[in-house]
Amino acid sequence: MSDSWDTIADWYADLLRAGSALNDFSRDVLLDQLPEVLSGHHVLDLGCGEGIVTRALAARGAAATGVDPTPRLIEHARAAGTDGPGTVDYRVDDGCVLETVADGSTGWATAGLSLNHVPDLDAALAAVRRVLTRSGSLVFSVPHPCFEAPHAAWTQAGDGTVRRVVGDYLAEGFWRSDNPQAVRRAGNEHRTLSTYLTTLHRHGFAVEAVTEPAPTAQVTARQPQRAGLPPFLVVRARRD
Ligand SMILES: C[S@@+](CC[C@H](N)C(=O)[O-])C[C@H]1O[C@@H](n2cnc3c(N)ncnc32)[C@H](O)[C@@H]1O
Repeated sequence: MSDSWDTIADWYADLLRAGSALNDFSRDVLLDQLPEVLSGHHVLDLGCGEGIVTRALAARGAAATGVDPTPRLIEHARAAGTDGPGTVDYRVDDGCVLETVADGSTGWATAGLSLNHVPDLDAALAAVRRVLTRSGSLVFSVPHPCFEAPHAAWTQAGDGTVRRVVGDYLAEGFWRSDNPQAVRRAGNEHRTLSTYLTTLHRHGFAVEAVTEPAPTAQVTARQPQRAGLPPFLVVRARRD
């Protein structure tokens, strides 16, 4: 049987709870694009998983709503609660629909490593646009499309250094990692950089920031081969 988010939910929650330098880094570079203080703001966290980003939003004072279609991850998120000062609220919902979220109800939306899992990016961005206030913003991160393309791998070069080999950047669509320890064994939708940017534009979003943060020392201490490449692409876009 192939893995899915349902079958790896407990594994993913355990991975993050045990402390994952890479996931902490992905949370922090996403949060870097939001105000330091979010008191008085509502933030929708699309594809919240076990709530790593949602809790961090509440820690900045937000009234944060996490939505995710994987019921087991929502159970983990609810069980983790919040340390405040803001609040968390979790709902099982599909990011391509956002059925539980009212029109124009949120000033910010975040999507940490989740738009690369939605099957229909057009539908997800249309749904986010619908729920944002008039000048609301979306901040999202995805595994960097240029370096995390389907079946990209590490290989040892002749000089002994470990290098990234990428071959299928233009192969958009669903793919599944065959690494039994990889998150993307549950599947992943690969899209090129230009697809992300042109789809944002088509749905009336103005891109305000694009970052490709260098991995922290905590990340490279565990995975030295990551030095020199940005693991994630982060985009902040305002509803035009
Ligand atoms: C790599 S996890 C990221 C979770 C969390 N944001 C984090 O940073 O840990 C990807 C998440 O995307 C969710 N996902 C899959 N399909 C989705 C969809 N159609 N809409 C919203 N989220 C989806 C999965 O259930 C999973 O929680």
